[in-house]
Amino acid sequence: MIKKCLFPVAGYGTRFLPATKAMPKEILPIVNKPLVQYGVEEAAEAGFHEFGFVTGRGKRAIEDHFDISYELEHQIAGSGKEDLLTSIRDLIHNNSFAFTRQNEMKGLGHAILTGRNLVGDNPFAVVLADDFCVTEPGTDGVLAQMVKLYNQFRCSIVAIEEVPADETHKYGVIAGEAMKDGLYRITDMVEKPSPDKAPSNLAIIGRYILTPDIFDIIERTAPGKNGEVQITDALLEQAKNGCVLAYQFKGQRFDCGSIDGFVQATNYVYENIYKQGK
Ligand code: UTP
Repeated sequence: MIKKCLFPVAGYGTRFLPATKAMPKEILPIVNKPLVQYGVEEAAEAGFHEFGFVTGRGKRAIEDHFDISYELEHQIAGSGKEDLLTSIRDLIHNNSFAFTRQNEMKGLGHAILTGRNLVGDNPFAVVLADDFCVTEPGTDGVLAQMVKLYNQFRCSIVAIEEVPADETHKYGVIAGEAMKDGLYRITDMVEKPSPDKAPSNLAIIGRYILTPDIFDIIERTAPGKNGEVQITDALLEQAKNGCVLAYQFKGQRFDCGSIDGFVQATNYVYENIYKQGK
């Protein structure tokens, strides 16, 4: 049983400047809910109750969001607006939240290694809240789909999707042997390849289930592309020595780390979730 879910949220979010000068990108709202809350809700629906955040300077608002605000509770008690707090109250009451800081931005691999003290020697999930994922109502979320696979195969799993050839340079891209529909055993992985160097059009998105041996591998991993410690490099070693699966998830992903994806997600949530709930 995997219990812990890690959220690396230390990045600067430079693509959203000046909005992210004093405010974490993860707190930007998709309609009326911060981006990071959607990720936590997806993980909670997948059965996770222990959440760890790798934060950085200027990210205190994330901690505050997942804590009770007594002043606000007092102000809003008995008013017609109380319902607006239900979703975050439920998360706070039913789950635990822990935080640690990555004090130098040395890449996603390094951020995950920084979360080791929150995760311990256990398999764990990683959610990049920037990747906002939706699935058909009444069906499993992306992380829930991956947990089911983990329970079957007991090895690291990354979520993948097909991307256009001219976008491979934004992602880690895999090569793999098909095991069954939408499931591959990874044989190669390249971080942010140009289209001519990409081993396929199957790109890794921000959902991972990792076995804890990944920590020792990351420790041994030298900085790669852009001088950052890349999780892709560590996963490739894990894949070569054992097994890493790539899973083409059912659902839709919005790249909320980019302005275009963020606006598309906002429109989607407004039309399909917010307005339907009114
Ligand atoms: P990005 O590559 O999107 O970087 O990181 P960023 O800083 O968040 O955004 P831009 O490119 O400046 O606009 C992908 C994910 O990895 C986390 C980020 O918080 C984001 O969720 N990350 C990245 C870390 O936590 N630490 C790092 O050192 C790097």
